[in-house]
Amino acid sequence: MFLPSLILLAVAHLGSSQQLYNAQQPLNPYDHSQGYQFDPLLHLPGISPYFDAVAFGLGHNAPSGCNVTAASYIIRHSAIYANDEEYETYIKPFLKKLEKNKDDWSGPLEFMKHWQSPILEDHLEDITPSGAEDAVRVGLHLLERYRDLVPTTKRILADKKARTYDTAKNFIKAFPNASEIELVRITKDKDGAMDALIPHKSCAAFNKEPGKNETAEFISNYAPFVSNRLRPYTAFNLTDNDVVGLQQLCGYESAIKGTRSPICAVFNDAEWMAYEYAWDLKYAHMVGPLNPLSPYLGFPWLQAQTKLFSAIDSHDKAKEEDHDNKGPGWPKGQRLFLSFTHREVPPFVATALGIFNSSSTAKEEFPTDRINWTRAWKMSDLIPFLGHVGLEKLTCDASSGREGEFIRVIANSAPRPIPNCQKGPSASCPFEDFKEIMRAGDDKYGDFHAVCGTKSRH
Ligand SMILES: *[C@@H]1O[C@H](CO)[C@@H](O)[C@H](O)[C@H]1NC(C)=O
Ligand SMILES: *[C@@H]1O[C@H](CO)[C@@H](O)[C@H](O)[C@H]1NC(C)=O
Ligand SMILES: *[C@@H]1O[C@H](CO)[C@@H](O)[C@H](O)[C@H]1NC(C)=O
Ligand SMILES: *[C@@H]1O[C@H](CO)[C@@H](O)[C@H](O)[C@H]1NC(C)=O
Ligand SMILES: *[C@@H]1O[C@H](CO)[C@@H](O)[C@H](O)[C@H]1NC(C)=O
Ligand SMILES: *[C@@H]1O[C@H](CO)[C@@H](O)[C@H](O)[C@H]1NC(C)=O
Repeated sequence: MFLPSLILLAVAHLGSSQQLYNAQQPLNPYDHSQGYQFDPLLHLPGISPYFDAVAFGLGHNAPSGCNVTAASYIIRHSAIYANDEEYETYIKPFLKKLEKNKDDWSGPLEFMKHWQSPILEDHLEDITPSGAEDAVRVGLHLLERYRDLVPTTKRILADKKARTYDTAKNFIKAFPNASEIELVRITKDKDGAMDALIPHKSCAAFNKEPGKNETAEFISNYAPFVSNRLRPYTAFNLTDNDVVGLQQLCGYESAIKGTRSPICAVFNDAEWMAYEYAWDLKYAHMVGPLNPLSPYLGFPWLQAQTKLFSAIDSHDKAKEEDHDNKGPGWPKGQRLFLSFTHREVPPFVATALGIFNSSSTAKEEFPTDRINWTRAWKMSDLIPFLGHVGLEKLTCDASSGREGEFIRVIANSAPRPIPNCQKGPSASCPFEDFKEIMRAGDDKYGDFHAVCGTKSRH
């Protein structure tokens, strides 16, 4: 009947004797999960080298019948030697003990006898040589995606920090005529430019405390088991924070050197998933759906891009001039916009759009005594070094199924449909509806300065 003939067909098609016995093998798929191997570098929120996210599986190209006619991205800087606070809390105390106990490592940790920390203490927050190369690579990636838009780029933005500026400088090396691109540092809050680029820094009410206790509590539930498992091989008993520090060194060493750290192989899949959850928990409280400030901090960038996308191609002189003169003052004709920022900002934007939250209207739960495996909030997919979120403006003709202009949200290459707005081609959002969402967002979360208070600047 149907099934045997299907198998015969499959056998004839694949022509490999090994496949003969695998009746479950689908016909001719591109590999995505077959031969699955666990990779810890895909589960390190905030500290892994860049990788493309898969998200829900939608294709990355413009839907057929559509062209991307403008795009704007907010991009995290590339790999640094270590985040100050993570270094002080988790990594440095471990390294100090390691310094005094180099000999008594064995088994899977034998290599620790000769292992040297790759972290340059005097350069903690500088981008690393491999981070600079990765920036060029991700730049190239965007160039391939937006061949027509890249040549219109005449200006890009960074903040005053060396790590965003250096990332931007390397990123555009991939672009033709990079030398003609002006790299502007946003240091004044002209027309809300700072609220859009680095909202957490212009918001006095924001701090990095939320989630600390919950994360520590969750870590205290898994780290002792890891320490215990590794005890036969370690030179000293690992504290909870040592376990986390070692796990972070897998991410940082890989990102610094551009090759996989041997530390990554020390922990098993469940231990990495626990690490990942601990940090998703932290980011959910600090920059995600569990912090009531998050949507306030994500909307300014979204509002600014919406204005920008409305102004361009509007054939309305006044609006176009607005585009030229307000905020960052984008040059006429520019259609690809890049802004370089810090790890907090893509999650704010994601939260404001609802693209990394559960589909339920209830608050996503983050227990501290166990992992929530089905959570939607997975920051390893959003904030590796060079992690980014972008908006594409699509112009579609009737062959796409629906003529008009649409918005598609992209996070680390993959489209992420907006909840309640996905009637366009490939689950994109009609531009008019998107503007409506932004208007509603403005009503609800527009009062940045009222919730944030003012902050004295230096
Ligand atoms: C790059 O610059 C050259 C010389 O200034 C110019 O002829 C060329 O059109 C530019 N190319 C792009 C892609 O902007
Ligand atoms: C975290 O725990 C400390 C000490 O137990 C406590 O003082 C602090 O208020 C807690 N912070 C939050 C945000 O709950
Ligand atoms: C390490 O932990 C084990 C088990 O808890 C304990 O017996 C041992 O005394 C500890 N060693 C040190 C040096 O603290
Ligand atoms: C998640 O997004 C949906 C749709 O935007 C929203 O209704 C819901 O309140 C959000 N949940 C949380 C926890 O933010
Ligand atoms: C995990 O998250 C899902 C999706 O947000 C939520 O519905 C569920 O209640 C949570 N489960 C646990 C065990 O917290
Ligand atoms: C997309 O661009 C191609 C090539 O420039 C053009 O032929 C086509 O008409 C465009 N389609 C739309 C919907 O703008």
